[in-house]
Amino acid sequence: MKTIIRNGTIVTDKQTYPADILIEKGTISRIVENLPSEPGSAQEIDAKACYVLPGGIDPHVHMHLPAPAGFSSDDFLSGSRAALIGGTTTIIDFVTPMRGQSITEALDIRKKEAGSALTDIMFHVSPVEFTENTEKELEQCIEMGIRSFKVYMAYKSNIGLNDDDLLKVLKIVGKANGIVAVHCETGDEIEVLRNKYFEQGKIEPKYHALSRPPETEARAVRKLLEMAKEAGCAVYLVHISSALSLEHIRKAREAGQEVFAETCPQYLLLDDSLYEGDFSQTAKFVMSPPLRKKTDNEALWKALSEGLIQSVGTDHCPFTLAQKKAGLNNFRKIPNGAGGVEHRLALLYTYGVLENRITLQQFVNLTAAMPAKIFGLYPRKAAIAVGSDADLVIWNPNTKNIISASSHHQHCDLNIYDGFKTTGSPEYVIKGGEIAARKGEIKVQNPGCYLANPARRGF
Ligand code: URP
Ligand code: ZN
Repeated sequence: MKTIIRNGTIVTDKQTYPADILIEKGTISRIVENLPSEPGSAQEIDAKACYVLPGGIDPHVHMHLPAPAGFSSDDFLSGSRAALIGGTTTIIDFVTPMRGQSITEALDIRKKEAGSALTDIMFHVSPVEFTENTEKELEQCIEMGIRSFKVYMAYKSNIGLNDDDLLKVLKIVGKANGIVAVHCETGDEIEVLRNKYFEQGKIEPKYHALSRPPETEARAVRKLLEMAKEAGCAVYLVHISSALSLEHIRKAREAGQEVFAETCPQYLLLDDSLYEGDFSQTAKFVMSPPLRKKTDNEALWKALSEGLIQSVGTDHCPFTLAQKKAGLNNFRKIPNGAGGVEHRLALLYTYGVLENRITLQQFVNLTAAMPAKIFGLYPRKAAIAVGSDADLVIWNPNTKNIISASSHHQHCDLNIYDGFKTTGSPEYVIKGGEIAARKGEIKVQNPGCYLANPARRGF
């Protein structure tokens, strides 16, 4: 079946212009003004007064993430539904083996788990230790077309790497022209602070934030950038939350280092005053890194508008209140993370574009084009161009919504954006040429594609 999208205003990373789009066999086949009708052979979608955007790419989600309090509450089916409804057609999740498990075995298991995702799906692969097999396993992944890896400088007791092992990973991935995504927090320092607070009887959620001050992120960023330079490896700094970190990123980029940075809506829109109150109000904001000050929010918005941060992911990792209660008497046991995959586009559009903090082009760059370019998916994804996958969002810029845990599609009884007003939402979400969602309702059953063998980074 062919589809024509008519009367819309196309927005890409480079330009905004009126044109119609013909889709054939899941691919964009023509883009011109006033496409001739094809009665009987093409369905028509009227995009009048709407923007036609590339489908969103969320480069940072954790569906069905194992934690001591149970799995994060969205599995690949429920989380990808919420993603589609919000205008995200590709998600990038993680393969995180258990120590002692082979990376390739963990990759196979994760691919099966992700088989129910309705979005397209890709993985960053995490070495969680460096054994005599790790180099070979990383090379096997690279041969299979995986070029994006993720390491943690925090969580050293289970998945974090020490600096020597991190440097080894950077060297291997750098040699293959891959990229390492890094969770930058100095794990050892944080561990000392966490235990100190707990031993003083300071058990509430706010001590989660106080034990992870912005300096612990900034010091890790600085160290990582030095190591990446030594190793000659491109790096992607996930969920940057603080103004302090930005100066290190700026210097490295100005010196020509291949460094990309991500932030998330929570670090742009929420602040640490939310840790004041009782457990049932504050535990949902326990995430790593934690929420910072309003001045950090503003510094991050500025970094988006200046291009210092190139990507906005969500770090979608929801836990229910019952799961958060595992840490009722000990903040160290509260599972880290919060949901947001459904709201990324609406929040960025409302509080970024409509408040003149970023342009429409930057909105598309941050939510789709740059993640696609950094992780080798462009121009198959996020380009509205002949030959590209027909993953498109018909964005109505006039709808009004209020985010609420009682009406969202994420599988969780908590929502950190509860009460946030948004303007704009997808009228249609088209994935692989099919209508995947329409005004908040899912229309597809069939799973998305696993995106193997993405090309090298390309701009
Ligand atoms: O608090 C967070 N971010 N939870 C998810 C796991 C991680 O640290 O990225
Ligand atoms: Zn994460």
